[in-house]
Amino acid sequence: MTTDLNGAHVLVTGASGRIGTVTVPHLRELGAHVTTLSIAGNPGLEADRVLVGDTRSQDDVADALDGIDLVVHLAALAHRDIAPPYDVYSTNVVSTFNVLAQAGAAGIGRAVVAGSINSYGLPMNRHPVHPAYFPLDTDIPVDISDWYSLSKRNDENTARMAWRQWGIDIITLRFPHVHDEAALREHARFHHDHPHAGVTEAWSYLTTTDAARAIALSLTATTTGAHAFFLAAGDTLAPYRTEDLLTAHAPDVPRLRRFIDREVPIDLTPARSLIGFEAHHLIDLPTLDLPA
Ligand SMILES: NC(=O)c1ccc[n+]([C@@H]2O[C@H](COP(=O)([O-])OP(=O)(O)OC[C@H]3O[C@@H](n4cnc5c(N)ncnc54)[C@H](O)[C@@H]3O)[C@@H](O)[C@H]2O)c1
Repeated sequence: MTTDLNGAHVLVTGASGRIGTVTVPHLRELGAHVTTLSIAGNPGLEADRVLVGDTRSQDDVADALDGIDLVVHLAALAHRDIAPPYDVYSTNVVSTFNVLAQAGAAGIGRAVVAGSINSYGLPMNRHPVHPAYFPLDTDIPVDISDWYSLSKRNDENTARMAWRQWGIDIITLRFPHVHDEAALREHARFHHDHPHAGVTEAWSYLTTTDAARAIALSLTATTTGAHAFFLAAGDTLAPYRTEDLLTAHAPDVPRLRRFIDREVPIDLTPARSLIGFEAHHLIDLPTLDLPA
């Protein structure tokens, strides 16, 4: 069933963070009444109901879910090195279980979860491993050696469990590197100087504006069930042709198709077919010859 966001009551967890602060105003512009729940306050964040609380707390989440139609779950410790391993893993998996289980049990029909490209484990892998093939897709073999990636993988399992148990439809967006345009331009300079470093993330990116759009589209999509898929801008953040990058830096990795110009080597079909998403905000870069 298509959900109209106009008048819908939406809970956004982790709303005071990088993606949340752009998502909340976007949902409000679409007519949603937004409740936010973050562990840290943010004076600049405007919402219809602002809550400071912990997504690991049953009481805080129960209070936040009161009167809610739709859930956007962004709260997490968003990097492997942001805190000790126990804290990163336990915060992320307990929060996601708590939010989705309570939302499902309360009869809420749909949730969107911030997943990560790290859920296949290679970008933060401590070994020099390469993807089994390009483009990365939902079947790409997984090899996880860190607790952040493991938490994001487990969140996908939690989403599937919640759908099977309570019938709540859940879309997990496996975000690539998400940032504002200025920070992405800075990251493009890194890829310019160190193109080999981007192989396992497929040199992918997404602006916070497009991340917010993808979240809104996921809330209004007709897709049922639990789905987790990659999404990214259609091009890379490296100023070189994708075929040249792959030949130079992943020569032994099979390619299932050819990539045109700076096309991102990620299968974007699920994002297009399940939520109708296409990135609008691309970082304009020149296409250079890859240095020998
Ligand atoms: N930004 C990226 O490049 C990127 C890439 C892939 C996935 N993600 C995922 O997207 C989500 C949002 O990322 P972000 O970049 O906005 O991160 P962020 O660190 O800027 O924001 C995270 C938010 O979660 C809140 N939070 C953390 N622990 C909490 C808790 N126990 N209870 C309540 N709130 C808590 C923080 O206060 C903050 O508001 C995360 O799940 C992250 O893993 C982000």
